[in-house]
Parts: sequence; C-alpha cells; structure tokens
Amino acid sequence: MNRLAFIGLGVMGAPMAGHLVTAGHEVAVYNRTHEKALAWCAAHKQPESLAYATPREAAEGASMVFCCVGNDDDLRTVVLGPDGALAGLSAGAILIDHTTTSAEVAREISALCQEAGVDMLDAPVSGGEAGAVNAALTVMVGGDETVFAEAEPVIMSFARAARLMGPSGAGQLTKMVNQICIGGLLQGLSEALNFADKAGLDGRAVIDVISKGAAQSWQMENRHETMIDGAFDFGFAVNWMVKDLGICLDEAARNGADLTMTEIVKSYYGEVQEMGGGRWDTSSLIERLRRRDS
Ligand SMILES: NC(=O)c1ccc[n+]([C@@H]2O[C@H](COP(=O)([O-])OP(=O)(O)OC[C@H]3O[C@@H](n4cnc5c(N)ncnc54)[C@H](OP(=O)(O)O)[C@@H]3O)[C@@H](O)[C@H]2O)c1
Repeated sequence: MNRLAFIGLGVMGAPMAGHLVTAGHEVAVYNRTHEKALAWCAAHKQPESLAYATPREAAEGASMVFCCVGNDDDLRTVVLGPDGALAGLSAGAILIDHTTTSAEVAREISALCQEAGVDMLDAPVSGGEAGAVNAALTVMVGGDETVFAEAEPVIMSFARAARLMGPSGAGQLTKMVNQICIGGLLQGLSEALNFADKAGLDGRAVIDVISKGAAQSWQMENRHETMIDGAFDFGFAVNWMVKDLGICLDEAARNGADLTMTEIVKSYYGEVQEMGGGRWDTSSLIERLRRRDS
C-alpha cells in the first residue's frame, strides 16, 4: 500500500487513476469540477474523503503525484501557488506529469520542484482514451534515471510501455515527434481516401489491398472505416491536436527544425475547428477536403 495522488480526472486521467486503485494503491484525487472527483470515487468504490478540494490537500502525504490536465497554464495552475500540488508535497516525493505540454514548462516546473527537494518526470502519453481505459498507454519520459526507475513500476499500472528519453523536457519533445508524425500522416491518408473516392474506387477494397503493403499505418488500420463513413464523434480531439502542433511549431522556432508540412496541417485543423469540428477526431481532415470539393 502506497499513498498516491492524481490531479485531473478527465477522459485520460480518470481511467489512469482507476488503474492505480486496481494495482492496490490508495489514491487521493483532485478535480477542478469536484462532482467528477466524487463520481470517480463512487465508480471505483473509494471513500468520498479521498476527493480533495485543492491539489495541495490531495498531494499531502503522497509519495507520488500524477497530473493529467490540459495545457501549460493548466499545469502551472494545479502545481504552483499556495493551493498547488507542490505546496503539499514533502521532500523526496515525485511529481509525474502526463499532460501534453511544452518542454519549457516541464523544465520550469522541474526546477521549481528541485528547489523543494521534489523530483519531477514529464511523462506525456499516447494511445488515446482506449489506451487509458485498457491500461495500454505508451509513456515518453523526461527526467532523472533513478527517479524513473522508482516511478516506472507504478506508471506501468496504466501503460504498455514506458521509456526514459533523456533529461527533463525529453518526454515532451518525444511526444512532439509523435504528433508531427500523426498530423502529416492523417493529411496524406485523407487525401488518399478522398482521391480514391473521386477516382470511382471502392475505398474499403483499396485499403484492404494497400494496407498489406508499405502504405500501412495505425491510422489506416483503425480509422479508414470511420473516415469513409464520415464519422468523427470520438477519438483524439482536433482542439487538442491544434494545441499540440502549436507546441511543436514553437519548439521548432527555437531549434531551427523545418516543420513546413506540420504548419500547413495545423492550419487545416484550424479550418476543421471553424467547421465546428473542434471535438471531432483528428481523422476529420478528410471532411475538410470533402466540403471543399462539394
Ligand atoms: N484524449 C486523448 O485521447 C489524449 C491522448 C493523449 C494525450 N492527451 C493529453 O492529455 C491531457 C488531458 O487530456 P483529456 O482528454 O483527459 O482532457 P479532458 O478530458 O478535457 O480533461 C482535462 C482535465 O484537466 C482539468 N483541468 C483543465 N484545466 C484545468 C485548470 N486550469 N485547473 C484545474 N484543472 C484543470 C479538467 O478539469 P474539469 O473536469 O474541471 O474540466 C479535467 O480534469 C491533454 O494534455 C491532452 O493533450 C489526450
């Protein structure tokens, strides 16, 4: 038994925190909307007393505090300040952040944690809601090797794989690489399926053949049916992708990497947002092409 805390019980955080309970830990929780924290306690048969009013109170007495909130500013809100998690943590504790943020904020908060004797790992995830529910996330970690060795067995409660990528910020940089790959790939897949349709081909038959060759991808396997059907009310939201690609472009402005295609794809996602698709799955890039063509 090891007291833990989890801050941010959203689409990702709620099932991740649930897996920590399943693994046998006592988990104190904080969620901005308190009702969600109470609902989480009920769903996991935990006493309501584990749902705290502030991140600081949830963090008090915890050996590890996990966060999964929205963006850089949200992370600062729940970690820093008089009611933030850091104010409640004791020296020797570990803060593990699963939010997708900039590498800069990861380094900034890690430095502030160190001043208080607290270690921090930036640990963004990939695998989406299904990965969180099925404890099959991939976790990309930045931080110290010994701290990672201590946290890894606990992280593996909700992950299929976890890997230390380098010092503080390296987890977030790896997640940026992941998002750059996905953005470009989805635009290519969208153009391909739209082209197949215009060419009078049966999209499903095309994918059946080409998915056995070099064009194969996770997105092709898992998204082509819904892309053909025009169903996007699920999955990884366009709004999150716009945030993530913005983080990539900011980082590229610092390190000099050419992200020409990523910049274009981000602008296309901006058009999907204007179409009302901010909460659609990222495969909805094809819908933008369809509406332009019609
Ligand atoms: N969804 C995915 O498929 C996926 C996949 C990989 C990575 N991610 C990343 O994981 C993170 C969380 O995603 P999600 O889908 O779980 O989001 P979500 O469902 O919107 O949950 C966000 C959580 O953060 C809390 N929060 C947001 N801003 C806050 C603030 N200023 N102060 C306190 N709490 C705040 C929310 O509280 P309330 O309940 O009060 O709103 C909620 O608990 C994001 O960084 C996202 O990019 C998501």
